[in-house]
Amino acid sequence: MSYDTRLPSIADLKTRAKKRIPSFAYDYVDGGIDEELGKQRNRDDWQKVLLAPRYLRDATTADLSTTIFGKTYAMPFGAPPVGLGNMMWPGAELALAKAAQRANIPYILSTLSTTDLEDIARAAPDVCWFQLYVPQKIEVMKDLLNRVVEAGYHTLVVTLDIPVGAKRNRELKNGLKLPFSMTPQIIWQALTHPRWALNTVQKGAPDFVNVLRYKDTPDQGLGDFLTSFNMQGVTKERVEMIRELWKGPLVLKGIQYDADMQTALSIGVDGVVISNHGGRQLDAAPSTMQSLKELAHYRDKGMTIMIDSGIRTGLDVARAKALGAEMAFSGRSFYWGMGAMGPDGANQVIEIYRDEIKRTLQQLGCESFNELDASWLVQ
Ligand SMILES: Cc1cc2nc3c(=O)[nH]c(=O)nc-3n(C[C@H](O)[C@H](O)[C@H](O)COP(=O)(O)O)c2cc1C
Repeated sequence: MSYDTRLPSIADLKTRAKKRIPSFAYDYVDGGIDEELGKQRNRDDWQKVLLAPRYLRDATTADLSTTIFGKTYAMPFGAPPVGLGNMMWPGAELALAKAAQRANIPYILSTLSTTDLEDIARAAPDVCWFQLYVPQKIEVMKDLLNRVVEAGYHTLVVTLDIPVGAKRNRELKNGLKLPFSMTPQIIWQALTHPRWALNTVQKGAPDFVNVLRYKDTPDQGLGDFLTSFNMQGVTKERVEMIRELWKGPLVLKGIQYDADMQTALSIGVDGVVISNHGGRQLDAAPSTMQSLKELAHYRDKGMTIMIDSGIRTGLDVARAKALGAEMAFSGRSFYWGMGAMGPDGANQVIEIYRDEIKRTLQQLGCESFNELDASWLVQ
């Protein structure tokens, strides 16, 4: 597949998305926590990683395939969980699932997605992973996990890094809440973005369809419900319980520190996503590049190491691999893509990354992604 060369980079998609969708939706995706320094730190630190090419060798093949938990994916890049995805563009989550299936890359559906988890599994049967925000109530967690197993998800990703709901200033200033309350501000933004508004009216306003059935009472407010739904601070004991219940590959997302990595190993999880939620939770968190440097050696103990936060180019994916990560993800890239181009944006993002990763390997003189290791780093 090819991509539209008028929008050749994720940065171009971001610029276009900003014009094309209401600012409450744009800010929801783009925003970080507090002063948004952590978000910037992620970006700055990827840019510091330098790689040394090796010429005088043939790397024209540049094999991008990578095997994670026994499944071979076409390239080492995937879509991480993003809640409320259909707000960025109506139908975005399903479009992304279909594009991921076509491209054979992992797609992690969020617990707080706005498409039925069963529909996503049907659209992406070979590549769907499920992200769990751990429900406080054990019977709710078991019910949700049963649905995930029955739908056919391969890998379970448990997110740890939201022990408390984030106070994100851009969301507060935009008055963003669900269901949309039709404040003059929201109405004005919708009216000035008619294509987005028309699609939203046609497809229906987004809602957390996978969890609403667990409301205590039908008229329970959404804020109240989400606070009571989520376990505030996932404990080791709860992850051990999940390990017992979930027989497939289990991944912890949000790991950045040695102590947590050791706990993950002791529980018998199969992999981690080193992540700081894209700088959306703790503004003083180290960049994930920094954490990867410190934690990459856990690969030798059998841990599969993946990463996200601040990845914006195929070169970043190669940088992450040279530092020890088998797979990289980027949430904002995909939603800027779909904000800019509608459902076709999912494919555009995949093709941009595919092209950039391949060219990077060829430029480095590296025959396959698997071969890329610390020996390519400029120390
Ligand atoms: C708008 C938005 C919503 C997100 N929702 C979730 C979510 O529901 N579950 C989760 O584990 N992570 C969520 N994340 C974090 C992403 O999975 C991922 O860690 C982050 O996007 C990586 O940073 P990047 O956007 O800079 O690539 C969200 C991120 C964004 C930007």
